This record gives sequence, C-alpha cells and structure tokens, in this order.
Amino acid sequence: MRQAGRYMEEYRKLRAQYGFLDLCKKPDLATEITVTPVQRLGVDAAILFADILLILEPMGVGLEYSKGDGPVIHRPVRSGKDIDGLKEFDVERELAFVYEAVRKICKELKNKVPLIGFAGAPFTLASYLIEGSGSRNYIHTKRLFYGAPEAWKRLMERLAKVIGEYLNCQIAAGAEVVQIFDSWAGCLTPFDYQQFVQPYTKTVIDALMPGTPVIHFSTSTAGILKHIRAAGGDVIGLDWRVNLDEGWAAVGHDVAVQGNLDPVALFAPPREIKSRVGEILRRAAGRPGHIFNLGHGVLPETPVDHVVAMVDAVHELSAR
Ligand code: CP3
Repeated sequence: MRQAGRYMEEYRKLRAQYGFLDLCKKPDLATEITVTPVQRLGVDAAILFADILLILEPMGVGLEYSKGDGPVIHRPVRSGKDIDGLKEFDVERELAFVYEAVRKICKELKNKVPLIGFAGAPFTLASYLIEGSGSRNYIHTKRLFYGAPEAWKRLMERLAKVIGEYLNCQIAAGAEVVQIFDSWAGCLTPFDYQQFVQPYTKTVIDALMPGTPVIHFSTSTAGILKHIRAAGGDVIGLDWRVNLDEGWAAVGHDVAVQGNLDPVALFAPPREIKSRVGEILRRAAGRPGHIFNLGHGVLPETPVDHVVAMVDAVHELSAR
C-alpha cells in the first residue's frame, strides 16, 4: 500500500524542495523515499515510490499535482474524438525513470525485502482521464460507457496494453511483485464491472510475465469480490468494509488475500491498534496466504509511531 508520503517528516522535507513529479522523475530521490519507510517502519516489503497517473502524462493530457487538491488532468477526455487524439508513446522510453528507480531500489534493498512495483488498473486510470480528477459520482465516466460503448472499449484496450507493457518493464528492472490498483472500482454495479471493466483488467494480468505474483487491489468492492477475483491476481485486496474471513470466503480460499485494517484505526491509541490487528489475524485463522496490510493508504496526519506500533503488533501476534 502507500507507505511513503506526507505523514513522514523525511518525505515532507524533500517535498518542500521539489514538486511531486520531480520526486518521481529523479531516481535517486525516488529510491530514498521508497527505502526510508522500510527502515523506519520495519515492514516486510517496499513499494516503489511513483504514482498510478504517471502513465497518463505521455498521452498529452496535462497532468499536474496541484497543492492540496490532489492530481488534476487539464485536458480530460470525454468523447471518442478525444480518445483517438491521445498520444501513442513508447512505454519503455517515456517512463525510463521509473525502471531506473526500480533498479536502484533493488540494489539498495540488497535482497532484504522484496520490491513491489505497481500500476493503476484500466478503470481507475480511465476515470481519472475522463473526470480530470477524483470524483464523487463518476458521471462523465459512466456516461461514456453507457452512451459510447465502442469509444469506451477503444480507451480501455489502449490502457490495458500500455499498463501491461509498463508492468513488464518494472518486472524486467527487478520488481518482484506487482500490484494493480483499481481504487475506484467500488463505484460500479456488479453488471457494469463485469461488462465494462473486468475484461480489461484480465487482459493486463494475462499479459504479465509469468512467475511474478500479482496483487489485485480495490476498495468498497465487498459486493463484487467474486468478479474482482475472476479478473485475476494471485492476491486479492480486501478493505475494512468487509470482515477478512468473509471476504476471503467470497474470493475463495485457493487465492491469497491482503488486508484489511482501516487506515483510520492508526489514529487510535496503540493498545487499541494492537487489538484491531489481533482481530484481523484471528479472522485469518493461521491460513497460509494472508498479507497483513491496511485496506487503503496511510493518511497524511497519521502518527508515525502508531504505524510502527501496528507493524510491531503484526510481527508479535503472527509469530509462529
Ligand atoms: O509508498 C508509497 O507512497 C508508494 C507510492 C504511491 C503513490 N501513489 C505516491 C503518492 C502509490 C502506490 C500511489 C498509488 C495511487 N495514486 C493510487 C492507488 C492507491 C490508492 O491510494 O488508492 C491512486 C488512486 C493515486 C492517485 C493519487 N496520487 C492521488 C489520489 C493523490 C493525492 C493523494 C493525497 O493524499 O493528496 C496522489 C498524489 C500522491 N501519490 C502522493 C504520494 C506520496 C502525495 C503527493 C504529495 O506529496 O503532495
């Protein structure tokens, strides 16, 4: 999950000197930002410092991370004509800074913990491209797939292709696991997920180099977990809106799961954090194939020592 970021003083210091995109594009800095939380928190894996939206910038849509409001796309796509106007680009060349960071991070980690590479899933990326920012109701996105399903299909096929290539380049550079973020899939009906989203996520996962485990992440998808699972992935992300044991039963015990502490639980006193961790581990019931994680990224105001308390509690309570 997102474990670097503004809740850490080390990150805020760097961020005061550089724009977010600059940090992503300088492999030395991206390496430092990736490795710092591993050392500070004692977690068992590193996640590449980058962003799911980096892949949209070479399409020529005007990506900007504005202060306080999150990312913005200045020229959102709303029609078949807009979609056909998206720039074709060479995924290996245009995003070379990402693979360079992956290589540096792997060197720096010296095989102590694995590095997780990642990309956005086609739907979540399409929704940013179409809405131009985060959204409450995804009206433009849904209007496009209801009203112009052919244009939607062209967009999703194109995204699936570049995402697959992008992840394979990260794997080639040394990423040992990849995570696909479908953060906004929870806004969809089961039918629309199956019809307009699942086939394209499946295309991405099927295109990946065999032998690298894939984590398929989403939030607010308790009602469509079986469809999420059907799209693929060796590990299915569960958020805190479903009990871990019930979510695991819904996806099937023949697949691994990741989750599922509420990120806001990290604002509770450490003994309460430990009890919530214990409850999740109790529901995992000692089955193999549970990756303990938050159900979503660490929030900016989170106390760092509470994150450390959570990691310590997981290690203590799951020791065998
Ligand atoms: O450990 C890590 O932080 C890994 C790097 C990482 C970032 N973004 C860095 C980031 C990862 C894995 C992501 C994924 C990402 N980005 C997702 C999927 C995961 C999720 O949380 O659902 C999404 C939807 C995005 C899009 C995005 N990027 C948003 C919504 C924001 C604003 C968030 C905020 O809190 O302001 C970003 C910016 C962003 N990406 C930041 C970081 C550290 C904060 C940027 C800053 O310094 O201002």
